Amino acid sequence: MTVELDAPPRATPSWTRRHLLGLEDLSAAEIETILRKADDFLEVSQRSRKKVAALTGRVVLNLFFEPSTRTRTSFSLAARRLSADTVDFTVTGSSTSKGESFIDTARNLEAMGVDVMVVRHSSPGAPHLLAQHLNCSVINAGDGAHEHPTQGLLDVYTIQRSKGRVAGLTVGLIGDIAHSRVARSNIHALTKLGARVIVCGPPTLVPPTIRRLGVEIAHRFDDILPQLDVVNLLRVQFERQRKGLFPSIHEYAALFGMDSQRLRRAKDDVLILAPGPINRGVEVTPEVADGPNSAILQQVTNGLAIRMAVLYLLCGQRSAERQANENAPVRETAETP
Ligand code: CP
Repeated sequence: MTVELDAPPRATPSWTRRHLLGLEDLSAAEIETILRKADDFLEVSQRSRKKVAALTGRVVLNLFFEPSTRTRTSFSLAARRLSADTVDFTVTGSSTSKGESFIDTARNLEAMGVDVMVVRHSSPGAPHLLAQHLNCSVINAGDGAHEHPTQGLLDVYTIQRSKGRVAGLTVGLIGDIAHSRVARSNIHALTKLGARVIVCGPPTLVPPTIRRLGVEIAHRFDDILPQLDVVNLLRVQFERQRKGLFPSIHEYAALFGMDSQRLRRAKDDVLILAPGPINRGVEVTPEVADGPNSAILQQVTNGLAIRMAVLYLLCGQRSAERQANENAPVRETAETP
């Protein structure tokens, strides 16, 4: 399939959002619009010249207040493959150390002509706050334990590409549900697309209230394992939890880690996912992470296509808003001569 993506993006009727702040508010149709557009960009990424001119002249800024390997690199590369200019803001060495506020920092950066700001912050709701104060588009690249929408999208995209569908599958989210923004974004995307979701982990890491999001809860991985079409192994978020939520890493790995013995008891075609970074030997052993059922690196490849799709759709919507403003009739007022 050859797709022409060199022209500036135009609005699509199925995408009318300026920001991507989370998957909770998105409809199934909106999620499917992003996944379909990602197909186009996966094709672009397979070309020898992995670049289209769609976002020539646009500026995408990464505003990361937390560490990242995959998400930041992926957004930078996605923007460059769309021919946008990219800027990476790093907190170290910035004027935040002189007391400049989060909003002032973002507004000053926006004043340099930023079209899309990609934000990661330890505080839930930080990207939503920026969306209220900025005119540019805002993408949530992870806000505390709240949401990580592009991770949720790339996970469902990887499932759809591997299994041919999402509806009707049983997906296990295993591990630290309480502190995981990936868990929440996965739950919203998977349930909207018709999957059955079981969250599983020690009781201290699975809040009972999560049931309200339409999932089942289990505490024994071995009991649910044979039912699962997809196992998504979530990292224990040591940086977000107080100590003592489980006895030791060794016990956690024994009860909730995916190893080759458990893989033998799972469905033959079970799909193994992990958002990364993975702790080898804790949530997954190396032979499973690098084995034939694993799509962990495929998730990273697919993530690039998803982020290109999101940037493209948001910029298309901004173009449409700009054009609508330019075409709007001038309202006559009493002062008009
Ligand atoms: N999965 C993910 O968000 O990875 P990074 O923290 O490296 O971006």
